[in-house]
Amino acid sequence: MKTQNQSVSSNKSLDNQEKQKFFFVLGRNPQLSRTEILEFLKARNRTHEEILFDENLLIIQVNAGERFNIQEFGGTIHLGQINFEGEMEKLKNHLNQNEIIPSDKFSYAIHGNLDPQILQDKFKKEHKKASQKHGQKLLEFQGGEKGKNPKADFHIFLHEKDGIIYLGTSTQTYDPTEVKKRDMQKPIRREALAISPRLSKILINLSGAKPHDKLLDPFCGIGSILQEALIKKINVHGIDKEKEATTDAEKNLRWLTQEYNIQTKYTIINEDSRRAPDLQFNAIATETPLGKLLTKKPSDNQAKQLIQNFEAYMIPILKHLKKIKKPSSKIAITFPVIRNLHVDTQKITEKAGLKIYMQPILESRQDQFISRDILVLI
Ligand SMILES: C[S@@+](CC[C@H](N)C(=O)[O-])C[C@H]1O[C@@H](n2cnc3c(N)ncnc32)[C@H](O)[C@@H]1O
Repeated sequence: MKTQNQSVSSNKSLDNQEKQKFFFVLGRNPQLSRTEILEFLKARNRTHEEILFDENLLIIQVNAGERFNIQEFGGTIHLGQINFEGEMEKLKNHLNQNEIIPSDKFSYAIHGNLDPQILQDKFKKEHKKASQKHGQKLLEFQGGEKGKNPKADFHIFLHEKDGIIYLGTSTQTYDPTEVKKRDMQKPIRREALAISPRLSKILINLSGAKPHDKLLDPFCGIGSILQEALIKKINVHGIDKEKEATTDAEKNLRWLTQEYNIQTKYTIINEDSRRAPDLQFNAIATETPLGKLLTKKPSDNQAKQLIQNFEAYMIPILKHLKKIKKPSSKIAITFPVIRNLHVDTQKITEKAGLKIYMQPILESRQDQFISRDILVLI
């Protein structure tokens, strides 16, 4: 009996290059996670074509031999190669001829919209002790809908779109342990203010930063974004006008470079971002300040005022950032959303002489009255 991998038939596209397809099961903000992957590939000039994007499922076609490392991304939960693609009759044949899971006793979870009965029947026929895991409300999507991300030995992608069924088994699952460890063990933590490693990775990938590039975080705080960028072998510059933040960022980055034996360079400056040095940065990734920490829900008027103050504060800073980056370099940035009031992105981008490269994508949690728009400027 063949294993599933042996049955892969790579397809040839018009440019005659062998192709293969990968599926991605995306996390709580599918639109943001999808863009993260596409921008990651674009920044590296890796040929790719989006085949399908359905709820939190994405399929991308790339050149044969291309590989992914799930830990590079902030927003992907599982990924693997598509091993079968075709209509139902062909799927039945494929399942008759190929082993999907090379084990006699296992648990599995299905990601996709196709009725899993066909797999249940197959495993039964093969006398395998296979239990399907469904999971309970483990994933909360943007907007509050609940999704499932069951724990299982194998994650199977089984999805149908426009009469074509795609099948694959996950080869990589996001492992949060290492990321959590470096987030929890770093010398200085600032829970109320610091951005998560997940969002840090996403911003870095959206900024197009690659290994050996020079990335700037002009509001670096205690260095959460810088930390994730250093792990990706990106040279980082952090600026913060608060002395304590820069001392803390220094401590965190010194710890990180020792702990992970990182040779990549970092510089932290205690300065106002309006005076950030002109190093013609390759990328900027940052989480902007709101001005003051909100402890209770502001009124509509207060929210309006906060947003207006934010806009006025950011324009001169963005103007300066434009001067100190390469013309093609991107700024991946968060703007606050308070009580559903958004920053006038168009207005402040124009006033700063920049352009919107990626329209805002909302990143919110149900229990918070401050959310973020994530966008990319150029
Ligand atoms: C939301 S926090 C960033 C937190 C950071 N991502 C972290 O993980 O710690 C914003 C930071 O911007 C800094 N800041 C505000 N205005 C600034 C300016 N004009 N120049 C430099 N830093 C500034 C604040 O001191 C604060 O540390």
